[in-house]
Amino acid sequence: MSGDYPHLHPSARRVADEDAQSRIRRIRTDRWIAYARAEAVLAALEDLLSFPKRMRMPNLLLVGSTNNGKTMIVEKFRRAHPGIAAAETDDGVALLPVVRMQMPPGPDEGRFFGAILDALGMPFSPRDRIATKQDTAVRVMRAMGARLLVIDELHNLLSGTSMQQRRLLNLLRWLGNELQIPLVGVGTAEALRAIRSDDQLVNRFEPLALPLWTDDDEYLRLLSTLEAVLPLRKPSHLADSAMVARILSASEGVLGEIIAIVIRAAVRAVDTGAEMISPRMIEGAGFIRPSERRRVAV
Ligand SMILES: Nc1ncnc2c1ncn2[C@@H]1O[C@H](COP(=O)(O)OP(=O)(O)OP(=O)(O)O)[C@@H](O)[C@H]1O
Ligand SMILES: [Mg+2]
Repeated sequence: MSGDYPHLHPSARRVADEDAQSRIRRIRTDRWIAYARAEAVLAALEDLLSFPKRMRMPNLLLVGSTNNGKTMIVEKFRRAHPGIAAAETDDGVALLPVVRMQMPPGPDEGRFFGAILDALGMPFSPRDRIATKQDTAVRVMRAMGARLLVIDELHNLLSGTSMQQRRLLNLLRWLGNELQIPLVGVGTAEALRAIRSDDQLVNRFEPLALPLWTDDDEYLRLLSTLEAVLPLRKPSHLADSAMVARILSASEGVLGEIIAIVIRAAVRAVDTGAEMISPRMIEGAGFIRPSERRRVAV
C-alpha cells in the first residue's frame, strides 16, 4: 500500500508506508523543529560568535519558562560549531569553539570551575584547589580556542547563599573580561533576577525572551510543521481551531508539552490504526497539565 501523502514533509512521506512499530520509533525520536523565535535566537548567537574581541564583550541571557526549548536551542547552536579532536588538528590541540556548561546546584567557585572542566572534557580531582581548577579551566579554554561560553541553568545561582551568589557573579564578570569572549546565560526568569542583582552585570547581559506560546500565526505554523514531520497516513488538521485550542490548553503554552502531547497522540493514532490525531485523542490520553502536575507534586 503506497499513498502520496501530500500532507507530509518529503522526509516523512518516504517512511509513511513503514509498519507501525518502526513509525512509532520514528515519532518518538528527538528531532529539531524550526520556529521563528528559535531561528532569531540562533542568529543572535551567531552574531555574538563573530563579534571582534574587545575589552567589554557583549553577553546574552536567554530567558524562558522551564521546558520551553532553551537548552534545545543552545545545543543546536553548539552542534553547528563542533569541536575538532586533538588527533585531527595540526598542533595536536583539540579545538572547541562553543563551550556549554551547566551551573551546578548550590554553586561555589570550586563546583563552577569543575563544571567548566567537565564541559571541556578535562579530568580533575574534587580535591584540587580552586585556584588550580580556575587556572586549568582558563588555560584550556584559551588553548582550545573557545569563542563563546554558554552557562545553562544559570538560575541555579540562586540556590547558593547571597554571599556565594555575589562571588559567582563577580567571577562571571571576571571570566568574560579575562577570556574576552561573550557569555551566554540560559535560565528561567529567576536567572534574570540574579543578574539584575548585580549593577555591573545587568548592563552587560542583553535579555532575550523565549515566551510561552499563544494562539497566533507562529503557533499555527508550529502545529503544521509537527503534523508534516510525523509519519501518519492521514491528515490530522492540527492547525484547525478545535485542535489548536485543545493543545494550547493542555500544554499551557509550554513548547515541550505541546510537542509531547502531539507525539503521544500520534503514537496512539498509529497504535489504534486511526492514522490521524483526533481532538478526542488529545483529551483522552490522560494528560496532566503542567500546573496540575506541580500541584500533585507538592
Ligand atoms: N526546537 C525543538 N524541536 C523539537 N523539540 C523541541 C524543541 N524545543 C524543545 N523541544 C522539546 O521540548 C523539550 C524541552 O526543551 P528544553 O530541554 O530545551 O527546555 P528548557 O527550556 O531548557 O527547559 P529547562 O528550563 O527545564 O531546562 C525537549 O526535550 C524537546 O522534547
Ligand atoms: Mg534546559
